[in-house]
Amino acid sequence: MDLKGCSIVSIRDFPKEDIQAVVDKALEVKSGKWAGALDGKVLATLFFEPSTRTRLSFEGAMVSMGGRVIGFADPNISSAKKGESLADTIRTVTGYCDVIVMRHNIEGAARLASQVATVPVINAGDGSNQHPTQTFLDLATIQEEFGRLEGLKVGMLGDLKYGRTVHSLSLALALFGTKFSFIAPPSLRMPEYTLEQLKGADTSFIEIGDINELNDSLDVLYVTRIQKERFADFQEYERVAGAYRIGRDSLKLLGEEVRIMHPLPRVDEIVEDLDKTPNAIYFRQAHNGIPTRQALLGLVTGTIQ
Ligand code: CP
Repeated sequence: MDLKGCSIVSIRDFPKEDIQAVVDKALEVKSGKWAGALDGKVLATLFFEPSTRTRLSFEGAMVSMGGRVIGFADPNISSAKKGESLADTIRTVTGYCDVIVMRHNIEGAARLASQVATVPVINAGDGSNQHPTQTFLDLATIQEEFGRLEGLKVGMLGDLKYGRTVHSLSLALALFGTKFSFIAPPSLRMPEYTLEQLKGADTSFIEIGDINELNDSLDVLYVTRIQKERFADFQEYERVAGAYRIGRDSLKLLGEEVRIMHPLPRVDEIVEDLDKTPNAIYFRQAHNGIPTRQALLGLVTGTIQ
């Protein structure tokens, strides 16, 4: 795997062996190897949508390895507010930094940016489409827990229509023979185009509306927030809001060994009584954002091999 100079736009661009190699590299970085590898590098973070984890862990990753950060967390203080096109913003910022991390509300924005920039662009989420670096940290967390990615039983629960994290993660896990259970209300099912891709892979899936319909225990339940901000019709949101609550009492149905993951932020879909159980790994998952993003920044800038 040689990612030097490469943009990270979609998990679809990565073959299985490269996904595994990035995950292995993230855990290698976590073990302490590569300290200071980003010395002198400059990261530009361009966030056109809100973020806590993705932006701060990218910035923390860069700074803690010796690099520096420029950018904005609010597009209203950038010249986008004056009507500057995304392409012109990227054409400008590409001359100020070694790597760009961008979150945007429009699907395909990261691809466009990668075609205009002369430095690598890392997609930190584009609309409901993709969130590939979240997938890498999710996979690193799963590998830490199980020692492997192959052959796991994974449930995905909640907003599977608008949730970009589950789109990226399901496509990646499909390469590792995952047995999926997709649990969502009919209006928030996994998109047909994603299901079509899964049908072509060495995997299987069922679609159900409730965890009570599960006919097997799970290794992982990946819970997602209902993405209120992406609904065109607020009444449609109100019909599904609060549809799921996972708490300690859910473990009986899911299996006592199940790991509960969530990309966060949560709203009300995971009850706090779960947090102190050994099953809840969502904050450890969030903390894996640092080594995973250190690895990605190093790989695309060529300072980590
Ligand atoms: N998981 C995730 O993308 O979180 P933020 O929206 O806080 O970046």
